[in-house]
Amino acid sequence: MAADAAGTEGEEQPIKQRKNGLYPGVSDELAENMSTGWADTELHGLEPIPQAEQTAARRAALSARYPGERLVIPAGNLKTRSNDTEYSFRASTEYAYLTGDQTEDGVLVLEPRGEGHSATIHLLPRSNRENGEFWLSGQGELWVGRRHSLAEAEQLLGIPAEDVRELAGKLSEATGPVRVVRGHDAAIEAALTDKVTAERDEELRVYLSEARAVKDAFEIGELQKACDSTARGFEDVVKVLDKAEATSERYIEGTFFLRARVEGNDIGYGSICAAGPHATTLHWVRNDGPVRSGDLLLLDAGVETHTLYTADITRTLPISGRYTELQRKIYDAVYEAQEAGIAAVRPGAKYRDFHDAAQRVLATKLVEWGLVEGPVERVLELGLQRRWTLHGTGHMLGMDVHDCAAARTEAYVDGTLEPGMCLTVEPGLYFQADDLTVPEEYRGIGVRIEDDILVTKDGNRNLSAALPRRADEVEAWMASLKNDK
Ligand code: GLY
Ligand code: MN
Ligand code: MN
Repeated sequence: MAADAAGTEGEEQPIKQRKNGLYPGVSDELAENMSTGWADTELHGLEPIPQAEQTAARRAALSARYPGERLVIPAGNLKTRSNDTEYSFRASTEYAYLTGDQTEDGVLVLEPRGEGHSATIHLLPRSNRENGEFWLSGQGELWVGRRHSLAEAEQLLGIPAEDVRELAGKLSEATGPVRVVRGHDAAIEAALTDKVTAERDEELRVYLSEARAVKDAFEIGELQKACDSTARGFEDVVKVLDKAEATSERYIEGTFFLRARVEGNDIGYGSICAAGPHATTLHWVRNDGPVRSGDLLLLDAGVETHTLYTADITRTLPISGRYTELQRKIYDAVYEAQEAGIAAVRPGAKYRDFHDAAQRVLATKLVEWGLVEGPVERVLELGLQRRWTLHGTGHMLGMDVHDCAAARTEAYVDGTLEPGMCLTVEPGLYFQADDLTVPEEYRGIGVRIEDDILVTKDGNRNLSAALPRRADEVEAWMASLKNDK
């Protein structure tokens, strides 16, 4: 990393805060020199982003929902990791959904106008070349890269753009009803503190969560890209299992991450690279354990596209390339449960149906294997299978891995499936290493199979079908990838 913007020469008056701190030791001649001699790089005639029509339609729907109210949707700010380094930035889902933009500190404002609203996006403009900000400030373009000018942002996003540094002042002076999406930008919330209520702001958050449940054509395309990219990432992992055996689960995490960063924006959530008994920990993201031939690898990972849509796929793979008899018995039971779950995904079905269908299969197997006393109806009624199934069978998927999480119960888990909804179907069985109620050979085995299922007009489509699921197909696929190397 380069030295701080304070440099090494200003030792008498070091600048602690790189952000916005102008370096005091700049001579007039240097300041003059730095302010001139730069080409005009303004871009003209930019094409709008591909989803501009969809983001406009989403803003129109939002406007219709809250007539006469000012709506404020922030992207969020950088978060400090340590001292003057920050975590990589990920714009708030609500902001990216409504604008297509992903710039830190951005804020979308919908101002009531006549029957509807006028939208304005508030952004940090390109850094000024006259006052030295572009090379002296930590947010200057010679430090962090070129930003779009406001005029460029307008062309790309189809939304008039203004300087965000003036927004907090304007908001604190504004009158009339206002709502803000909370939790992303403390300064914007502070400017509105005496004008908003938690209850009304929560309604806005809930609306934006529910609005995302049915995906438009652009979103479905992005989810398919995320799944396809994730499938390639899984292939990458299979090809390096020998290297993972020589190192640790981290090799798997790093291999998948490479694919996510090269083809997409990031991973959509912490990759779960769980070998052996770690597969029984639902969100094993420490990924620091050994990878041993003879064990299973539960890999639950998703690439997030450049537009922030993520896949969420799990495969449970035999590290040796072949399942043992018991591993296969458990795997086949989970596969059967997943098949039953996927078959229950269709328009008009209750959201809960796919969960119930999968749980019934798993409960039946557990009774058959003598692990819990039947009949199956009793097990299901008392939920006794949950000792080994642990979690719900799926969730909505989209820009957030657990999408639409703020939706009301009646619009989500007690709701009905509609074409355009996308959900995961991910049953699992987990026999903890210290579970004395199961035979010893079961202990430490965890299996989950997870696919991303789009509800279509007449049923469903598996967006992650590129990855094999049936045990024999998984084995054949692994063998072909190993031969491919
Ligand atoms: N990867 C988290 C989940 O499957 O829900
Ligand atoms: Mn998952
Ligand atoms: Mn999931």
